[in-house]
Amino acid sequence: MKRACVIGWPVEHSRSPLIHRYWLKQYGIDGAYEKEAVRPEDLAEFLGSLKERGYAGANVTLPHKEAALQLAALADEAARAIGAANTLWLDDSGRLNASNTDAYGFITNLSAAASGWNEGGRPVMVLGAGGAARAIVHGLLAEGARRILLANRTSGRARALAAAFGPAVAVVDWQERARALTGCGLLVNATSLGMTGKDALDLDLAAFAPHAVVADIVYSPLETELLAAARARGNRTVDGLGMLLHQAVPGFERWFGVRPEVTPGLRDHIAASLGEG
Ligand code: ATR
Repeated sequence: MKRACVIGWPVEHSRSPLIHRYWLKQYGIDGAYEKEAVRPEDLAEFLGSLKERGYAGANVTLPHKEAALQLAALADEAARAIGAANTLWLDDSGRLNASNTDAYGFITNLSAAASGWNEGGRPVMVLGAGGAARAIVHGLLAEGARRILLANRTSGRARALAAAFGPAVAVVDWQERARALTGCGLLVNATSLGMTGKDALDLDLAAFAPHAVVADIVYSPLETELLAAARARGNRTVDGLGMLLHQAVPGFERWFGVRPEVTPGLRDHIAASLGEG
């Protein structure tokens, strides 16, 4: 039996077991996917003994994503560019490999839900400067976005992120975020604003073109206030659940040997767990 897990601290909130167990069942694979609560000080020991614990690999969530990259023997280009790992596996030689599939998940979902989003090469506005924003900026640039405008409450974090990616990324003052939407073809909320229990994202969309696309990484609620407002004025919208589902694909394939599909059935299953089925 093949086994994988998600490692976090805390880990209880993780949706990864629901996704991977759904696929294990759907593809009739003799496998298991567990939750592992691992304290930061125990991460090195845990990853060093993955094989002994019976795991082929793991997902990594907060607060371990940066440390997991450091502890891996090998890392792919995405993990190195993003500076964090969310997917680990042991190769044939027993070495720990690291990848980051957040950019892949974001772009794959964006392209599926809003094809042609980059036609015209208009600037992309990204809100946020945390780990999610970093993965998204990496994915957008790899996909050919020519210019990214980055706005974050704490401007120093936005400047640091922009500096890591070079001149295609420009920082916009957080107070100027609504005005800076003029001419943008895509807006991405990569902050936690709008999530159930968090503050609202206060953003006037008046300057945003009606044919442009809005993507939110927040998936609880599934339709955030930002997406509802965008939809009401005719913008195409992309919710955060698709990114969550697509980022899980490469790990499942590594561990269990089948490339799984993101289907409406899977989406409904996970949406139901969010209380939105
Ligand atoms: P993640 O790794 O998931 O991106 P994070 O590093 O905690 O998580 O980043 C959360 C993002 O939401 C940050 O961009 C944060 O802004 P700061 O860098 O200024 O902290 C943003 N965010 C969270 N609460 C916010 C609020 N009340 N107003 C504005 N931005 C907020």
